[in-house]
Amino acid sequence: MKKNLIFLGIETSCDETAASVVMQDSKGKAKILSNVVSSQIKIHKKFGGVVPDLASKAHADKIDIIIKQAIYKSKKSFKDIDGVAATAGPGLLVCLMVGMTAGKTIARFLDKPFFGINHLEGHALSAGITNDISYPYLLLLISGGHTQFLSVNKFGNYERIGTTIDDALGEAFDKVAKMLGANIPNGKIIEKMSLKGNPKKYLLPKPILHKSGCNLSFAGLKTAVMLQIKNVKNNKCKYDMAASFQETINEILRIKCSKAMDMFLDLQPKLKNKNFVVAGGVASNKSIRNNLIKLSRSKGFAIIFPPSKLCTDNAAMIAWAGIKHYQKKSKGNFNVESSARWPLDPKAPFMKGPGLKL
Ligand SMILES: Nc1ncnc2c1ncn2[C@@H]1O[C@H](COP(=O)(O)OP(=O)(O)OP(=O)(O)O)[C@@H](O)[C@H]1O
Ligand SMILES: [Mg+2]
Repeated sequence: MKKNLIFLGIETSCDETAASVVMQDSKGKAKILSNVVSSQIKIHKKFGGVVPDLASKAHADKIDIIIKQAIYKSKKSFKDIDGVAATAGPGLLVCLMVGMTAGKTIARFLDKPFFGINHLEGHALSAGITNDISYPYLLLLISGGHTQFLSVNKFGNYERIGTTIDDALGEAFDKVAKMLGANIPNGKIIEKMSLKGNPKKYLLPKPILHKSGCNLSFAGLKTAVMLQIKNVKNNKCKYDMAASFQETINEILRIKCSKAMDMFLDLQPKLKNKNFVVAGGVASNKSIRNNLIKLSRSKGFAIIFPPSKLCTDNAAMIAWAGIKHYQKKSKGNFNVESSARWPLDPKAPFMKGPGLKL
């Protein structure tokens, strides 16, 4: 067997064009040789959200140079690559197609296997790039489009035990940032504003806090911020609202993560190591990290976060997922198609919309 495995990863599911070269050594340790991420935030800023056609065009305009930079920075060349992985879904179809086409073309040309990766699997495995984590583990995925608790039973086996029934947590952060007049609506700004605010100033609701297991809901909380925004007249009030919102999220996560841990332990009665992984863009929030570190200690769980640059979208996690598939003796698949929707747990029921029973 070859000593080191080297994969090129490509990510274009939404508004980040990313490419990365990741190496796994003979002991199974990962090394990120390059990790290039180009954000399109400036392009979409004036529209208040991601415009699919513009996003797709921006990916197509840049993908070649981003891949070239990733190879150059890795100090490897294309002939060193053992396989290519690109995000196949979920995401915006017109965006996914750009990365998939680039990835398949490179893999064909190199005569190497190609892997179409589930973006959520990339997030789910991202903490494993920098940490040794044994299966099973409890995962809280908090990103811009998803908010779920999953029991990661083993590689490729993801059992959803809770989900948001409306907005994703990252989406709620983005919308509140927009309401507070942030130039670039991103959760990072709420975190920054909160540092100067009083978290007890505004009382905000915590929907379904004590019902529906570890399912979550953020739409009512977001609407409550919108209804109170008329009282937010100066910067001090803005900081207080940001801090109150973030504190409310922390309170919700404390209760729901505690519930998810209990449910996970019920599912895994013979568990030796109680591991809790928190991944996705919102997992880079330091206040949320500190809150969940405290909770995990009190519940006897070891908590693992990917480094911040691997929480938000990146192609290193896609390359890493590709390596994991390759090692499972998968030969890859050039026929894999892009999918806008691709749940990690295909058996989990759809939990959104009217008529939902909680
Ligand atoms: N420090 C932070 N605090 C709160 N939220 C944050 C922070 N940093 C990033 N986010 C949020 O993370 C989200 C982006 O994360 P990510 O890139 O994982 O999401 P996505 O790829 O758009 O969605 P998905 O992975 O579900 O398809 C955004 O909603 C952003 O507001
Ligand atoms: Mg993501």
